[in-house]
Amino acid sequence: MNLSGHTFSSGLAATMAVVNILKSGDHIVCSDDIYGGTQRFLRKVSIPNHGLQADFVDLTKLSEVEKAFKPNTKMVWFETPSNPLLKVVDIATVTNIAKKHNPDILVVVDNTFMSPYFQRPLSLGADIVVHSITKYINGHSDVVMGCAITDNDTVQKHLYFQQMAVGAVPSPFDCFLVNRGIKTLHLRMRAHYESALAIAKYLEANERIEKVLYPALPSHPQHEVHKKQTKGMSGMISFYLKGELEQSSTFLSALKVFTLAESLGGYESLAELPSIMTHASVPPEDRAKLGITDNLIRISVGCEDLDDLIADLDQALKSAIPRI
Ligand SMILES: Cc1ncc(COP(=O)(O)O)c(C=O)c1O
Repeated sequence: MNLSGHTFSSGLAATMAVVNILKSGDHIVCSDDIYGGTQRFLRKVSIPNHGLQADFVDLTKLSEVEKAFKPNTKMVWFETPSNPLLKVVDIATVTNIAKKHNPDILVVVDNTFMSPYFQRPLSLGADIVVHSITKYINGHSDVVMGCAITDNDTVQKHLYFQQMAVGAVPSPFDCFLVNRGIKTLHLRMRAHYESALAIAKYLEANERIEKVLYPALPSHPQHEVHKKQTKGMSGMISFYLKGELEQSSTFLSALKVFTLAESLGGYESLAELPSIMTHASVPPEDRAKLGITDNLIRISVGCEDLDDLIADLDQALKSAIPRI
């Protein structure tokens, strides 16, 4: 396998470089709850300005995948687990369906939520893997960077050309920082997984919580697919509070160890409200359909002491929902 990784000045710059391989009139099949910034790029730039066509579909439903392809479909784009609903797409199955339709369709997986430590989409048949290096790969919340990895010669040439022709490449100092951060990727990922699994179990047993979304829990709808295609799970958990916007806001303001912020994948724990933060650019009717409601909280479990993290969530939940 002739593998190459091309770095860009952000995850979104890597996304843009990959999408730039498409021509006006080409069609992308996209999963329906990808990162809000990727949606914004497609909906506000690629579609209106560059003439791309896109359909946003639930790729966990194989019947919908089958129906999604058109004669002009050139790319399938998904995140797994997705952001913020942590839906798990079966990478090998979706790739097979796409290639059966047309072997030239490029299958792109945004692997930001897993890092290469837990999930390797190219070995499952995907053509391109995109990472926001800003997140787990760097891990120290002090760099913005992205990359696209591929074993496809044509895509390699395209990405190299994009680096040169568009110029959204990282700075030397950022490359130095990522080279330092990446050395502990395996240690950090194991710590994120261990703490997040314990927190997901704590939340699932908590009476103030309606539902927890974490693929490593047996209750997750795609738990079997998750086990088949990964070696673990990161620190990303989403959950529904028993409440509305007011309870979510009180919960987020009451947190002391978790910081209210949009990013993820760093050593520090973060919490956010997707409906008004990361996914505010998703049309409201789509948010409602998907379940990105005002009581959906997304957390990124960092590397702090587990007892401190659980105690923090516990006191914030009690302050948001005093009586149950
Ligand atoms: C899954 C995913 N992909 C891509 C990006 C974009 O990355 P960056 O912030 O490095 O541009 C993000 C950012 O949050 C993300 O969560």
